[in-house]
Order: sequence, then structure tokens, then C-alpha cells
Amino acid sequence: MPYPESHYLSPIWRDDLFKGRVAFVTGGAGTICSMQTRALVRLGANACIIGRNAEKTEEAARDIATVRPGAKVIGIGGCDVRKFESLKEAAARCAEELGGIDFVIAGAAGNVLVSMEAMSPNAFKAVMDIDVLGTFNTIKSTMPYLLKSPDARIIYVSATFHYTGMPMQGHVAAAKASVDSLMASVALEYGPRGVTSNVISPGAIADTEGAARLLTSDAAALKHRARSIPTGRLGTVKDIADATVYLFSSAGSHVNGHVLVVDGGSWRRQGSL
Ligand code: HXC
Repeated sequence: MPYPESHYLSPIWRDDLFKGRVAFVTGGAGTICSMQTRALVRLGANACIIGRNAEKTEEAARDIATVRPGAKVIGIGGCDVRKFESLKEAAARCAEELGGIDFVIAGAAGNVLVSMEAMSPNAFKAVMDIDVLGTFNTIKSTMPYLLKSPDARIIYVSATFHYTGMPMQGHVAAAKASVDSLMASVALEYGPRGVTSNVISPGAIADTEGAARLLTSDAAALKHRARSIPTGRLGTVKDIADATVYLFSSAGSHVNGHVLVVDGGSWRRQGSL
């Protein structure tokens, strides 16, 4: 689908900011991660996106590649982040075809809206495995290449549910708390070796497939939701892409072990009048 540049990127960044860099993105066909990737590619990077659904992943890769003449974007479908070997092969292919890996976005996530009462142990495990083990596998499989990069960065896509707890999202909240925690340890272990690690925690984002499926696409309900956010609006994919560009740019080089919440201040709202 053609997106105008204003949909996913603020007009303040330099065109060749990421020239020569390679991004490896899990969940790269999903709305948020595909827009993060789109922004990086528009600003000069090449990318490899990973997904479970081959057709969707390959189509997203072709679509992202259109944002810049000469951009190389590989889509590797049929790759489940729960399977280490599958990611290892994907990382090797990315490095071979694109010349290395400089940036990693650990974005693959599982989610269903379900109460604790209705949640089966296997549903809980599925989300923990995708989000936590999947993130570990992503870091582990790409680290050999990141360690060779002159400018290595990792972003973990988290959420805000675990800062307060969230009905129907107990599994996701538990998983994302683990993702934040894993990020902190990787930041301390690998910061001294030149790899920064930071979390981006999106709040409610208006224009994602996941939000439409899991929350609502009803305009009145979304408007009501927006009014409860301190900035008075829902987030956009551009908010997340811009935060990504900042963290991966040289402006973000001294930020390590940080959780960047991009939610208009909503997570601080609990307890306010
Ligand atoms: C209750 C469910 C369910 C549902 C599946 N399960 N869907 N339980 N309600 N709607 C149960 C199954 O019955 C099974 O348990 C277990 O979960 C595993 O299901 P599988 O289909 O076998 O697993 P799998 O194919 O691995 O799927 C994992 C999944 C899936 C998490 C359940 O929905 C998924 O991966 N979705 C795609 C990724 C995704 O949703 N990404 C969005 C992220 S966006 P039993 O006991 O029967 O074996 C995001 C932000 C959203 O997170 C913010 C807004 C809230």
C-alpha cells in the first residue's frame, strides 16, 4: 500500500542519515515495525524483515523497498522467533546479502485479548515464548554481527501494560516486563562492547492492525480514548518511527538501557484527577 512520507516520518531528518547501515527487524511486516523499517530505509539503510507469514513478509519487503531508489529490503518469511535455528539462518542470510547487521529491532509479538480466567496455560506460554524467548533468540542470533558493527544498536518494542497491570493482557504485561528487564541486562553486558540497547514502549496507536483487531476501530470509541490521553490524541506509527530514528541516530549514541515510553504520558495518568 502506498503511504505518503508524512505518514511515517517527520520532515526533520537528513536523507542519508543511515547510509550504509543494515537493519534486521523481527515482526517487520506488522504495522509498527514495518513503519520503523520504512523510516530507516527512507533515510538510507538497507533492511531484512522477518515474519512467520511468507507472503505477507515478502510483500511488505517489496513495499518498503519502494521508498528509496536503490534500497535493498529482504523479506524472510516462515521464520518463527521461537525457533533459534530459524533466526540464526535469517541473520546469516541478512549479513551475507546486505553486508552485516548494525541495527536490530526486536518487534515480533503475540497478543490475544483474554481474561486470566479464560486463558489457557498454553495461551500464556505462546505469548511468553514469542515475546521473551523470541527476543532472546533475536539478540543471540544477531549479536555476532552486531559486535562487528562500528555503530550497533538494538531496540526492543515493548508496551506500557506492565507499568500498571492490564485486564485481558496479563500474559502480554508479564512478557513485556521481561522484555524491559532483558534489555537492561543486555545494555550492561554489551554496552562496553559497543552495542546499545533501548526499549520503545508504544501506548495506544491509532492506525495499527493489532489495535483495530484487539481494541476497536469504532471512531467514537477512539475519540473518547484519545481524550483520556494527556496529549489529547492517540499515538501514530510516525511517533514510533521518529523515536526509532532518534535512538539509532548519532544523537542517540549515549542512550543505553533506557525505556522510552511514547504514549503521550498516559502511563503516568493513573492516580491523577
Ligand atoms: C484465547 C487463544 C486465542 C484467543 C489463541 N488462543 N487465540 N486463547 N483467546 N483469541 C490460545 C489457543 O487456544 C492455544 O491454547 C494457545 O493460545 C496457542 O494458540 P496457537 O494458535 O496454537 O498459537 P500460535 O499460532 O503460536 O499463536 C500465538 C498467538 C497468536 C499469540 C495466540 O494470536 C499470534 O501470534 N498472533 C499474531 C501476532 C500478534 O497478535 N501480534 C500483535 C501484537 S500487537 P490451547 O490451550 O488451546 O492449546 C500488540 C499491541 C496490541 O501486542 C495493543 C492493543 C491491546
